[in-house]
Amino acid sequence: MNFSPIGVFDSGIGGLTVVKEIIKLLPNESIIYLGDTARVPYGTRSKEVVTKFALELVKFLLKRKVKVLVVACNTISALAISEIEEISTVPVVGVVLPAVAEAVKVTKNKRIGVIGTQGTIESKVYEQGIKKIDTSIKVVSVGCPLFVPMAEEGLHNHKAAKLMARDYLDEVLKAKVDTLILGCTHYPLLLETIRETVGPSVTLVDSAKPTALELKKVLSDNDLFSNNQNPILEFYVTDAPERVFQVAGRFFGEKINNRLKKVNLED
Ligand code: DGL
Repeated sequence: MNFSPIGVFDSGIGGLTVVKEIIKLLPNESIIYLGDTARVPYGTRSKEVVTKFALELVKFLLKRKVKVLVVACNTISALAISEIEEISTVPVVGVVLPAVAEAVKVTKNKRIGVIGTQGTIESKVYEQGIKKIDTSIKVVSVGCPLFVPMAEEGLHNHKAAKLMARDYLDEVLKAKVDTLILGCTHYPLLLETIRETVGPSVTLVDSAKPTALELKKVLSDNDLFSNNQNPILEFYVTDAPERVFQVAGRFFGEKINNRLKKVNLED
């Protein structure tokens, strides 16, 4: 038994989609969420900068004695996971490998599509992860940069999002994939729009659920479970808590207002 919190972090508020799944699966765990809203988005930044920012977030959470780190951000998981693992004193769970494993498990025609930020797609980590398990799988990856601001602005079901989805997903559809990895924290919000575009025969794999399952396994393997009946849930952001108040509910499914604090990473 270990009552220390789980540290979950992201470039901004999108990682709340992962927190939502963790709470569903592990309701007795305390969680500290850290979103770098001062410097979001990470998806268009270089590996060097994403890594530097990510390590600052990691240090902040380690100081708060978290028992495990969940890298909820796909871009950070894609670009900086080894550097994070190197400095972390606790187990690290990223979002890429759990989604890869799930997609490889569900594909029947061995054609998988991957969508994500430019950083995630250019890193090719999904493609490499899939090929490592099965070299015969064809992978088609497409960056969908406008999906992030659309989700944040609440335009995920807007006709503009549908138009963009048709454009972005054209290549994936032409490749006749039967499985599509939603490789970004924000894409669960666009589920309906994406579903409408790809049709009912494509299985959509969102990294949040497989990541929560992987976290459960890591807690079990390391004997870190908690049975706390009153787990603590704290949300930290590096800027603009008022804006976070307004949009977080869309990602988390409920309001988080009274549990949100603005922090300085040096604190
Ligand atoms: N959290 C990022 C991701 O999952 C999306 C937002 C950003 O670009 O920072 O890739």
